[in-house]
Amino acid sequence: MAMQRVYSGFICLIIGLILSTKNQLCRAGITSDYVRNYNSNMDMPLNSDVFRVPPGYNAPQQVYITQGDHEGKGVIVSWTTPDEPGSNAVLYWAENSNVKSSAEGFVVSYKYYNYTSGYIHHCPIKDLEFDAKYYYEVGLGNTTRQFWFVTPPKPGPDVPYTFGLIGDLGQTYDSNSTLTHYELSPQKDQTLLFVGDLSYADNYPFHNNIRWDTWGRFIERSAAYQPWIWTAGNHELDFVPEIERVSNVAYNIINGKCSPVRDESAPVYITIGDGGNQEGLATEMTQPQPRYSAYREASFGHGILDIKNRTLAYFSWHRNHDGFAVEADSLWLLNRYWKLEEPAICPAELETNLLCKLQQLSTPRPQNKLQSNLTDPKASSSPYIFSGLT
Ligand SMILES: [Fe+2]
Repeated sequence: MAMQRVYSGFICLIIGLILSTKNQLCRAGITSDYVRNYNSNMDMPLNSDVFRVPPGYNAPQQVYITQGDHEGKGVIVSWTTPDEPGSNAVLYWAENSNVKSSAEGFVVSYKYYNYTSGYIHHCPIKDLEFDAKYYYEVGLGNTTRQFWFVTPPKPGPDVPYTFGLIGDLGQTYDSNSTLTHYELSPQKDQTLLFVGDLSYADNYPFHNNIRWDTWGRFIERSAAYQPWIWTAGNHELDFVPEIERVSNVAYNIINGKCSPVRDESAPVYITIGDGGNQEGLATEMTQPQPRYSAYREASFGHGILDIKNRTLAYFSWHRNHDGFAVEADSLWLLNRYWKLEEPAICPAELETNLLCKLQQLSTPRPQNKLQSNLTDPKASSSPYIFSGLT
């Protein structure tokens, strides 16, 4: 059970397919002395204000959006109606426009043990303009509720974009703290990547799906206004009595059967979780801290992945216990496929950052030559990346 807690307490976010760093090994071995509060992991009661059912007959609830296509011009709106199916349509319009459009979705429902769901609607909206604010309404014909979202900018190699990162959210008081902290972050995150383990309803008898409904109402305050993009964690595996733990990591480096080697083209794994789950503190970590591990800490919080351009991205971790603007940990990442041919031109806010200074000093490198990176002995010593730990 202890190991299960360790694994379920964290979700592995793999960014390494597109990004790599190389100085991690040089700075390996830091275990933060921060330890979060151990005793605050109870689920919020069903009558909590954050689970409030919106008033009105057949009022839409659990409203959320997710990205509807690969380009960024589509959104899928989802919601649940409790009393009858009602309308499947979404009415939407661009800000400062009087032209309203309508899209038609579909409705489903399900039974699970003794639970019967409400009427779950999904409605794709297509052909939106880039980088535009849209209002939308659901519940047409009964109780209508209005929300809004902003579409992403037109894709391009140097278009900045900021993702929020949350895993293991659950619905404890700490979950509420995490979501509030995320909402109030001064960084303008545009889409949330949810890295698995959502409601923790599976911890209840018959996986009490009422806890899926409360969770849907809980996250609506964010998920109705920006896309949440999902991956499934072990707590989404709905079969009993025991869940077989599976891993999406191809090579298990903690079993002693293999060991990592120094290679700047290797993926970077940022393992985050503990958005507020009810499973308690995950303190059991591999001892001593392995060389491949740069930094580790047990704290409730959320991450931000701020993609600056084709070359640079910035990851930061934000503890719930800290102020909204505080970064407990941070890390610069460099795209291994787009290394700089010319010395870096630093964004204004980065001019004093050591990373840029290192890049300006570094030897120009060819682009798109991953193979040469793997074989060039100079590659592993070129100071392209600064692993910033604050
Ligand atoms: Fe988890």
